[in-house]
Amino acid sequence: MLSNKGFDLWANEYDRSVQLSEESDSYPFAGYKDILNTIYNEAMRHSDSRILDLGFGTAVLTSQLYKQGHQIFGVDFSKEMLAIAQEKMPQAILYQADLTEGVPQNLAEQAYDTIISTYALHHLDDQAKVNLIKRLMSMLRKNGKLLIGDVAFETRAKHDACKLENAHHWDEEEYYFVYEELQPSLQAFCASEFYPISHCGGVIELQKFEAEADVTDKAI
Ligand SMILES: C[S@@+](CC[C@H](N)C(=O)[O-])C[C@H]1O[C@@H](n2cnc3c(N)ncnc32)[C@H](O)[C@@H]1O
Repeated sequence: MLSNKGFDLWANEYDRSVQLSEESDSYPFAGYKDILNTIYNEAMRHSDSRILDLGFGTAVLTSQLYKQGHQIFGVDFSKEMLAIAQEKMPQAILYQADLTEGVPQNLAEQAYDTIISTYALHHLDDQAKVNLIKRLMSMLRKNGKLLIGDVAFETRAKHDACKLENAHHWDEEEYYFVYEELQPSLQAFCASEFYPISHCGGVIELQKFEAEADVTDKAI
C-alpha cells in the first residue's frame, strides 16, 4: 500500500498514469472520467454548495466544482498532492491528515451538501470503510449525499474475475469495494445504491434515511 510519501512521489506523474489506464480501458482506472463526471453532475444539482472531498489528490474533480463556485473542503495525507490541489483552488480549506484516523475534528463538526471521494477509500479495509461512512452520514445536510467513485464491483465473483485477468499487476494491498458484501452493513444506518460504470469501477451513492435526515439536519 502506498504511504503518504509514495503518493508524494507519484503526485507529478499521477494525472498522466491515470490517463493511460483510463484510455486503454484497463484496471484500475477504466471508467475514471465517467466516474468523475457522474459525481460532478450529481454534486452540481446544488448551487453554491459545501463539498468535502476525501483524498482529493491533484483535484481533477474538485477543481472543476471549485470553478463553479462551490466551497471546497478536503483531506489528503500527501503534502505534494495538497500543494498541487491548493494551487488550483486557493480558497479551498484543505487539511493534510490520514483518513485511517478519521476526519479531522474541524471538518467533522461541520455539515456538507455533498461529500465525495474518488479512488481513495480502497486504502481502508471494509470495517474502516463502514465506520467512516457512518461518521460521514452525520456530516451531511438534509438531502445531502455521499458519492464514492472507486475500483468497485457489484459481486465478489466480478471482483475475482477482474483479479484473474489482471493477475500480473493486481494490487493485493488495496481493499476494493464489493457492494454485495458492504451493503448489509450499510443498510443498518443509510440508504445506498451502486452504479457500475466500467468493468472495474463504479459509483456508490449514499444518503441518510429520510426520517433521520429531518431530525439530524445541522445548521451552519
Ligand atoms: C489514487 S489517488 C485519487 C486522487 C483523486 N481523488 C482522483 O480521483 O484522481 C488517492 C489519493 O488519496 C490519498 N490517500 C490515500 N490514502 C489516504 C489516507 N489514508 N488518508 C488521506 N489520504 C489518503 C492519496 O494521497 C491520494 O492523493
